[in-house]
Amino acid sequence: MKSWLRTHLQSHKAYTSARSEFSASDGPMIYLDANENPYDWPYSRYPDPLQGDLKAAIGQWKKVPPSQLFLGNGSDAIIQLLIMGLCEPGEESILICPPTFGMYAVGAALLNIEVETVPLTPQFQLDVRAILDAVHPKMKLCFIPNPNNPSANWFSKTDLQTIAENFPGLLVIDEAYAEFSPDDSALSWVLEYPNVMVLQTFSKAQGMAGARLGMGFARETLINDLNTIKPPYNLNSLTIAAAMEQLQQQHRVQKQVEEMCAQREQLMKVLTEMDWVHEVFPSAANFFLIRVDNSHQRYLQLLDHGIVVRNTSKKRHCENTLRITIGTPEENKQLIAAFKSLSL
Ligand SMILES: Cc1ncc(COP(=O)(O)O)c(C=O)c1O
Repeated sequence: MKSWLRTHLQSHKAYTSARSEFSASDGPMIYLDANENPYDWPYSRYPDPLQGDLKAAIGQWKKVPPSQLFLGNGSDAIIQLLIMGLCEPGEESILICPPTFGMYAVGAALLNIEVETVPLTPQFQLDVRAILDAVHPKMKLCFIPNPNNPSANWFSKTDLQTIAENFPGLLVIDEAYAEFSPDDSALSWVLEYPNVMVLQTFSKAQGMAGARLGMGFARETLINDLNTIKPPYNLNSLTIAAAMEQLQQQHRVQKQVEEMCAQREQLMKVLTEMDWVHEVFPSAANFFLIRVDNSHQRYLQLLDHGIVVRNTSKKRHCENTLRITIGTPEENKQLIAAFKSLSL
């Protein structure tokens, strides 16, 4: 399989850090190769550039070989690296399906990469026919969050498969909310399709948004390509240590996910019964979208109750919508009380 990288990057020589030249040994070694402070501080040493231990642990957890795994400073950094690495500014483009997660277009704009759009249908489904009509050989990346943000719904696997089979570039299925979805992950597609990458993150269900850790799963060729262009130490030691610990907490995370999903159903049911809530959209995530009579007014009223939701009204098909994240049971109780105090 040929390289995915822009032509001039294919001959790029990765920066060889001290730790990538010499990282491990059987016996105790004296490391005088990286100009670090030699005294005993917890973080005096550079981190492992390829995060071997963490990738081995995540690989076991996700049942994916570590060689098919890329880790980044949040999924955001992986998205940015993909756009930078694969798309030639002024020549090539990315495809997105609004309403969608904002970072894809922002990442492309920062690099002067054209963003082509094929909106979702008003019911927030993929318009596969329009996508197939729009694709052309200069489209290098297509980003599809599944479940989608901000609409919170999930897409049909058949639609995603049709896109994977017909898209000329790399299809990135962004599963930031995978743990909350009743649908299967597309992780196994990485073995089937050479042009599919799946993103997941520690920021949502895993409760580590502050540590910044995103995961990209793909064929080895692409992972190797990304490794040659990534910043040398793109994950810090604190994040690596925190993630190793969090992997031991999966029982607790699972219980929290179940509770959030149950709370989501309860909240959505209560909101369906409110006069000024016109529509509650289905959700497979830890948030949901509602259409209200006047989103600006309702947003400000909730602020008066000390509750911050997201006014998503400016996004495609999202007029008068609010996006609400599931909180703790106590926070959700306060949200319901606030909602009940608002009248038509
Ligand atoms: C679909 C989607 N992808 C990625 C992200 C960002 O993930 P990370 O925190 O890992 O950068 C978000 C955050 O809201 C998201 O909604």
